[in-house]
Amino acid sequence: MQPVFAPFPQGRFRRTRRSEALRALTQEVSLTVGDLIWPVFVRDGVNVREPVASMPGVERLSAELVVEAAAMARDLGIPAICLFPYTDPALKTADCREAWNPENLANRAIRAIKAQVPEIAVMTDVALDPYNAHGHDGLVQDGIILNDETIEALVRMTLAQAEAGADILGPSDMMDGRIGAMRSALEMAGHKDVAILSYAAKYASAFYGPFRDAVGASGALKGDKKTYQMNPANSDEALRLVARDLSEGADMVMVKPGMPYLDICRRVKDAFGAPTYAYQVSGEYAMIRGAALNGWIDGEKAMLESLIAFKRAGCDGILTYFAPEVARLLRHQ
Ligand code: PBG
Repeated sequence: MQPVFAPFPQGRFRRTRRSEALRALTQEVSLTVGDLIWPVFVRDGVNVREPVASMPGVERLSAELVVEAAAMARDLGIPAICLFPYTDPALKTADCREAWNPENLANRAIRAIKAQVPEIAVMTDVALDPYNAHGHDGLVQDGIILNDETIEALVRMTLAQAEAGADILGPSDMMDGRIGAMRSALEMAGHKDVAILSYAAKYASAFYGPFRDAVGASGALKGDKKTYQMNPANSDEALRLVARDLSEGADMVMVKPGMPYLDICRRVKDAFGAPTYAYQVSGEYAMIRGAALNGWIDGEKAMLESLIAFKRAGCDGILTYFAPEVARLLRHQ
């Protein structure tokens, strides 16, 4: 598209910015509650609500409180909730078998939500990091993160989550070939309508720090995740990964983190036109919330601005810890 405009003074861009009405009429994208996926941390116990220190305003909730949270989200119009378990260290093993235990924390929470708040879509995390002591997303042997062996474990996890009633599976592990393996396992087991939202372009990022605290993986993580998560300097590779995951049967794709990677969101949307999501990760949340709590920025405005940026960059939706707060604000706008 070739922009055409009259030269000054015939052309004055401020004409369409001069009032709320003109600004509304010329607004290109908008943020709605239907764009939001709310990530929630689940822990064991009954009636436990535990603040996450590095994410002020975010709590780990025991299962029945997660159901309450899901009901609240549904009432606010939030279409999906995404569960992340904080696993008891006693259940973490080298083979990660708790990951596919039908009665693990995540699977119990999925069942409870689907029984009591069936309208909300439940998204899961498919990765092994909550289930081993080293904090890696895959099985580890002699310091190497094993790809193919990990896929077998992820497939077991996939089937357990689908069985529990998950609507959207979120493989966040970055192993090669997992989407195809998950998709055919789902087909064979009769779960043909379970969606896969692939963390297709997930970067090895410092912005995951607070999340790793929230799921109890940070102290544990040995080394970094650079042999499976992407190099922040790469962009063409993101397109190849998205193409690969879509061709293996992903229904939706994600770019993660969000704000430092808006260029990737735009390229992915333009190249494929597939449902595209960004994850506004824990570190992004912590920066906005932390600065706001210190009185350094206007938290509400910064939150809304950060989210509209994802829509402008071509995203169809955003995973954000701000979801309920944003939903309330959007209601009153
Ligand atoms: C790991 C996983 C991570 C996040 C979601 N799933 C962290 C990591 O890759 O170490 C990060 C989310 C966030 O920072 O909010 N499977």
